[in-house]
Amino acid sequence: MEMLNPQYFIETFGCQMNVADSELVAGMLQKCGYSETRDMTQADIIFMNTCAIREKAEETVHHRLDSIQHLKKRKPEMIFGVLGCMAQNLKNDLLESKPYVDVILGPDSYRRIPEIINNRKKQNGHEVDTRLSKYEVYDNLMPSRQEGVNAFVSISRGCDKFCTFCIVPFTRGRERSRSNDSIIGEVKDAVNNGFAEITLLGQNVNSYRTEEGKFPHLLEAVAMVPGVKRIRYMSPHPQDMDDHLLQVMSEHENICNYVHLPLQAGADRILQRMNRTYSKTEFLNLVDTIRKYIPNCSISTDIIVGFPGETNADYEETLEVMNKVVFDRAFMFKYSSRPGTKAAEYTDQVDEDIKQERLARLIDLQQTHTLEANQRHIGKVLKVMVEKESKKSPLQWSGRTEGNMGVIFDKNEEQIKDIVNILIQDAQGVSMFGNRVLEKEMIHEIN
Ligand code: SAH
Ligand code: SF4
Ligand code: F3S
Repeated sequence: MEMLNPQYFIETFGCQMNVADSELVAGMLQKCGYSETRDMTQADIIFMNTCAIREKAEETVHHRLDSIQHLKKRKPEMIFGVLGCMAQNLKNDLLESKPYVDVILGPDSYRRIPEIINNRKKQNGHEVDTRLSKYEVYDNLMPSRQEGVNAFVSISRGCDKFCTFCIVPFTRGRERSRSNDSIIGEVKDAVNNGFAEITLLGQNVNSYRTEEGKFPHLLEAVAMVPGVKRIRYMSPHPQDMDDHLLQVMSEHENICNYVHLPLQAGADRILQRMNRTYSKTEFLNLVDTIRKYIPNCSISTDIIVGFPGETNADYEETLEVMNKVVFDRAFMFKYSSRPGTKAAEYTDQVDEDIKQERLARLIDLQQTHTLEANQRHIGKVLKVMVEKESKKSPLQWSGRTEGNMGVIFDKNEEQIKDIVNILIQDAQGVSMFGNRVLEKEMIHEIN
């Protein structure tokens, strides 16, 4: 029997790649005749798109699955699926411990969704596919994007870097780049659908390469697409940053003056054990080079504390790098051992309370740095893209700087997606506050 108005519900955990993948899956489900519901009790398909990056990420998913299993019991014909990195990583575990999960798909198996839905109409039973592909880049699938000003466009999948702490090369498989044409096509579609900002995504965006060229060529081609007001990319690897990329960034107004540059650790010994392929000095030199090409460039980072064998002295070197660079923002994590990775086998794991202590100090330091970086903008005019109404007041907008920091300002005649000049007047926490400077006042100010 055909269902009337079948509905799907997708919940996404983890990184922006997963957000983009969920949008791909949503696009496919819509093609199969499903529409989205925000009420999971109404859903005929529930997909959890999961993350395996740290133990806590997996625990969150376990709890979530347990807390909604009753929905499946109440409606046995519903399809209850686990997608993404944890599906890839823990399929046997999930099959054993969560019998109510009936579909398990790894990140390279989403094309099979229509077929799986059809099979399920004929018979019940588990569907598991966690084969990784050397080729799958989901060319020519139309994502159904979340509303907003920003569209995520994935340009490559997988990772070949094998940092010793990281599960991603195992959950997402080998690195592969999508063709220039299909990326540019998707960017044009996104612009036609009203998106003004494009974020290019990949585990290592800047190791992107095809016969047509490397990442800087692609970035430049995206910058030339009419209607693209802003471009960001996530995440580059320090090893693959080159002058050509910085040159392209400095030449195009619409490429944000912003680099997310994951440091991970400050001490050479730890960087080496992490297989990060750069030294502390090389990282610091790279920051200098970025600032030479793009003097007002915002830089954010990722840092791990308590990697196996990290001594107090090693940890102090991480703080030292932070003090030298003064990152605009940092995402900071306690090392979490991932079974199957090389670092999980190291015997000198750091105690949990030491990790906790190191993380707390790191967060404190970064808070002062973020505030310092934002306060430095006070009295300056920044380009801010209007994104949405401020949560605090309907008379104010909330927007973002090129450096991805939030700015709150009073509404004038501008609209969402406009880029306006804001004179920064205050900085608190991670936000800045300011006022619109109109063009004629700008001329006055420059004079
Ligand atoms: N591909 C990106 C990010 C991958 S995951 C990159 O290379 O930058 C995002 C961040 O999670 C990493 O930068 C790292 O800081 C953190 N991370 C990855 N594995 C981790 C682990 N086992 N424990 C703690 N943090 C981890
Ligand atoms: Fe993980 Fe390293 Fe690859 Fe980033 S570059 S996804 S941290 S293995
Ligand atoms: Fe998590 Fe997979 Fe992203 S492990 S961080 S969802 S690539």
